[in-house]
This record gives sequence, structure tokens and C-alpha cells, in this order.
Amino acid sequence: MPDSHDTETTQRKRRDALAALKAARGKYIFGSKVRLRRKKLTDVRNDYTWQSDPELARLDAAPVLKLSFAVYLLDYIEAIHRRERNRFPLAIETLKGEHIGNCTCYAIDDRKSEAQVGIMIGDRDYWDKGYGADTINTLVDHIFSSTLLNRVYLKTLDWNLRAQKCFRNCGFVRYSAANRNGYNFLFMELSRERWQKKHKKT
Ligand SMILES: CC(C)(COP(=O)(O)OP(=O)(O)OC[C@H]1O[C@@H](n2cnc3c(N)ncnc32)[C@H](O)[C@@H]1OP(=O)(O)O)[C@@H](O)C(=O)NCCC(=O)NCCS
Repeated sequence: MPDSHDTETTQRKRRDALAALKAARGKYIFGSKVRLRRKKLTDVRNDYTWQSDPELARLDAAPVLKLSFAVYLLDYIEAIHRRERNRFPLAIETLKGEHIGNCTCYAIDDRKSEAQVGIMIGDRDYWDKGYGADTINTLVDHIFSSTLLNRVYLKTLDWNLRAQKCFRNCGFVRYSAANRNGYNFLFMELSRERWQKKHKKT
């Protein structure tokens, strides 16, 4: 049985959401179709290919990468070693270990008790097969079970119906819409309360 000091220490750690997310992670965070892991240097080829892909950039409202691979690699090495202050980036792998995309918990805000999530499955062979939903469910479960955060939110382009359906299937609901830099975004959220209710049903 944990003594009161242990409980206090655990609670204090959980209040620092980024520390709690990192501490609770083993080598992998397992879902039923995917496993999530820390980003590593060998992801660089796929990430370069995906960020240079015009269709993926359009779906993500991001600019198409124009850097040479050599310059991108230098930035990548620096980014891999950077101590992230409020971001928790992860690679998405199939259970067999194939790197198919990335997801991130970012804008982690302990004061507001919320964080944003993002996902990109770069390998088209894995679209529409439930890998996105399993990734989001796995990431959200990890966030709510290891931190005290009360709300997870995300944004997606208003015409990206696949993404919206995927997020709705994971329990996210629309709460707002806005134009940012010329793009029409839809904002969706999942509260801890709603997440808990969903888990009670399953
Ligand atoms: C968006 C993304 C994460 C979704 O992951 P995924 O594995 O493809 O999605 P899932 O299979 O889990 O769910 C997709 C759902 O959308 C549905 N769908 C697919 N195309 C659709 C469309 N044009 N309109 C409505 N629903 C659609 C699927 O039928 C499925 O719903 P169902 O499981 O109830 O049948 C992934 O496709 C992706 O990363 N795409 C490229 C980048 C991108 O869109 N980025 C923006 C993310 S905000």
C-alpha cells in the first residue's frame, strides 16, 4: 500500500503533465493496431518524404518542405536532441515495427489543464483502416491516465472529412470553427469526463 509521501510525490509529478507523460512511458505505448514510441534519427527519411508531399501538406494546412535533405537532416539532429518544454512528439509504428506516421501532444498547459494533439499517417497504405483512430485513442488514454489534464483538443481543416470522422469515432466533439491564416479550421475536444464515460461503456 503506498504511503502518503508516495501519493503526494505521484500527485506532484502528475501535475507536471509533460514529466508525467514521459515518466509513464515504457519503450512503447501500445494500442491494438499501433505502438507509439519516442522519435529517433532513423525516422528522418520518412519524415522528409512526408513533409515534402504536396497532398499531405495540403491535408495538414502546412507548407510543402522545400529544403534539401542535407539541410533538413541537420535541423532534424538538433530537434531530436532538443529538450521540449511542452511537446511530446511520438512516432506511430504498426505492431510489426513499421513507421507509418507521427503524432504529438503539444501546447501542454498545466494551468489550463489542457493539451492539443495532432496526427499524420504519412503512409497512404494505412489510411481508412483504423490506424488513425487507434493512435488517437492510445495517445488520449496515455494522456488522461498519466496526467491530471482535463481536456484534449485538436484542429482539422473543415473539408477534411476523413480526419473529422476518425476523431468523432474517438469521442471528440466539435466546439468551434475559425479561419486561421486563410484556412478554415474546425476545433474538436474530448473532456476527461467524456473519456471516462466512454471507458465505462466499453
Ligand atoms: C486523418 C487520419 C489521421 C485518419 O486516420 P485513418 O487511419 O485514415 O482513419 P480511420 O480509419 O481511423 O478513420 C477514418 C474514418 O473516416 C471515414 N472516411 C474516410 N473518408 C471519408 C470521407 N471522405 N468522408 C467521410 N468519412 C470518411 C472512414 O470510413 C472511417 O470511418 P469508420 O471507421 O467509421 O468507417 C489519416 O488518414 C491521415 O493522417 N491522413 C493524412 C493527413 C491528414 O489528413 N492530416 C490531418 C489530420 S488533422
